Amino acid sequence: MAYSDLLRSVSELIESHGMPKREVYLDNENSGVIIPEALKALEDAYKRDGRGHPSITHLIGWISYQTLYQATSKIASAINCKPEEIIYTHSGTEANNLAIAGSAAASQRRRKILISSIEHLSVIFPAEKLKKNGFKIIKIPVDKEGFVDLDFLSKHLDEETLLVSVAAVNHEIGTVQDIRAIRDIIRDKDEEILIHTDACDALGRIPLDMKKLDVDLASFSSHKVYGPKGVGALYVREGVKLEPIIHGQLSTQKLWPGVENIPGIVGFSKAVEFMHNNLEGNVSRMMKLRDRLINGILERVDHVILNGPYGEKRAPDNVNMSFLYCEGEALTVELSLSGVYVSSGSACTSRVLEPSHVLLTIGRKHEEAHGSLLMKITPFHTLEDIDYVLEVLPGAVKRIRSISPIKPLKEVR
Ligand SMILES: Cc1ncc(COP(=O)(O)O)c(C=O)c1O
Repeated sequence: MAYSDLLRSVSELIESHGMPKREVYLDNENSGVIIPEALKALEDAYKRDGRGHPSITHLIGWISYQTLYQATSKIASAINCKPEEIIYTHSGTEANNLAIAGSAAASQRRRKILISSIEHLSVIFPAEKLKKNGFKIIKIPVDKEGFVDLDFLSKHLDEETLLVSVAAVNHEIGTVQDIRAIRDIIRDKDEEILIHTDACDALGRIPLDMKKLDVDLASFSSHKVYGPKGVGALYVREGVKLEPIIHGQLSTQKLWPGVENIPGIVGFSKAVEFMHNNLEGNVSRMMKLRDRLINGILERVDHVILNGPYGEKRAPDNVNMSFLYCEGEALTVELSLSGVYVSSGSACTSRVLEPSHVLLTIGRKHEEAHGSLLMKITPFHTLEDIDYVLEVLPGAVKRIRSISPIKPLKEVR
């Protein structure tokens, strides 16, 4: 479809949709709110101390460098690392690509990479691309709740292994992996194997201390902590060798050339600071709302399955459920009419209408994956928001099921 035709149909959709009387935004997996203080910090930096290029030798350049360094110090202190160990990118996707492709490009001899089978596509795709360069990519199986098979991991580590990549928190089903246990297995086998964790969905949801975790590489994304879009970061432990995978004019950082998005980074640092300082309160608040939503749906709607673990080992913001005999995309549209915004699977998956690889990997059938809704709670949601979702969701499911060609067996008979 031509871009202009697509725009026309989207404009028509917006016009015919109308403004719902109440809105609850739960599509924070894909993108969402910004913390007001982070937005203000971004605006201020654009207007004043972060408008220049940090590597240029004049007053505005020096002030910009200082601003960048102060923001980096805040992030470094939140995750307990040195400011020099943080490399900025413009997204979590770029940080993951740099971790995978950058370590492969720097490797002299090792040609084997292990990734969990439920990683974000920004880990899976760059890893799979490396097969063309002679790399062996092994996907670590997971159980039905998404926890990686530690025996499999242990058996497949050898002197050929360059890197192991496992996300600290799964973006779709909220599985909180035991990264420290994974680290122990790897370090016991071979101290030289690099450990990467995609921590985009972990920051602000679980305690993250780079020294305690003892990983070599960790990816972050600003918008996943309610900071501005357009900023990502890769923690690269001192001494770890990566090669740049994009090339251009050098700025302050060799691994990701191009001018840093200083206002965005300042906003990101504010968001990280907020999430770090309020971690305990945020987590208990989100868990309460999460469990109210999960239990409320299970009480009100039949034929529903919770995807991922229940309780402490599930990210506090994550609700992912499959509504059987329902098409997830249709349900997102139906809920949108009531002002409830959710996604079905991940953004990239829903755009191409393919079932989520994460749900299929944990054993969901195609139709169960297609009927899934992903809802992400923030520390800014209220009990009333959740109760509103519980009020409108059962009716929406009923309406979509009434037009679905697939019915529960006893209703067909
Ligand atoms: C676990 C995880 N990794 C990577 C990404 C990609 O981050 P970004 O949207 O900043 O490219 C996301 C985004 O949703 C994510 O959830």
